[in-house]
Amino acid sequence: MRKIIIANWKMNPAKLTEAKKIADGIWKLTSKLKCEVLICPPAPFISFVKGKVGAQNVHFEKYGALTGEVGAPQLKSAGVSYVIVGHSERRAMGETSEVVARKAVATLKSGLSPIICIGEKERHHEGEHWQVLSRELHASLAHVPKSMIKNCVIAYEPIWAIGKGSTAMKSEEIGESAIFIRKILAEMFGVKNSEKTRVVYGGSVDGKNAREIASASGVSGFLVGRQSLVPKQFAKIASAL
Ligand code: PGA
Repeated sequence: MRKIIIANWKMNPAKLTEAKKIADGIWKLTSKLKCEVLICPPAPFISFVKGKVGAQNVHFEKYGALTGEVGAPQLKSAGVSYVIVGHSERRAMGETSEVVARKAVATLKSGLSPIICIGEKERHHEGEHWQVLSRELHASLAHVPKSMIKNCVIAYEPIWAIGKGSTAMKSEEIGESAIFIRKILAEMFGVKNSEKTRVVYGGSVDGKNAREIASASGVSGFLVGRQSLVPKQFAKIASAL
């Protein structure tokens, strides 16, 4: 299974000229690496940045009278190949797992791959976070056909570790969560299908912790926020995969 690194630029940078410059820098520094490299810029920049691009959101309808929304077929025709759905910052704006499930399946039906984000708000001493993860996985993947789970990327992003520091999350904890997610995927979609599905980690990944997380946690890649706007740092993280 080819590993993947995903740049989630969120609502950055401010200008198209900067976006092009960052993307060019990333491609220059990562083009010879083994892993798949994906950049998810703000929507207006999608058609202008170099390389493989993803979107940060999608509507579950294909088209129609939905002012301000963008459908999966439109993203596809703009050159997008992946769509992030259910990022915790969107869930915090009111997006439920039911909506995430509809977005994920709409994305798949248009021939694109959804990057489905899940993650607990906090770690409980008594292990309640496992129930949170299980519930989010079941609800967010509710409409994904068995044979199509391999076209999805599951992004484990514990909310408490996003935008923190290099030591926010221990690689053993990430590894435990990745095993748990794979177990749920196997129950839902069968062992063979789940083995073909990439489970990536996101939350304060940087040039200092990437190598350790990559080797000790067994994840199939990273979803990177802040550090993805700095080509040198992003390339350093990518080279750890
Ligand atoms: P971070 O963001 O790398 O800045 O922690 C990750 C994310 O929110 O996807």
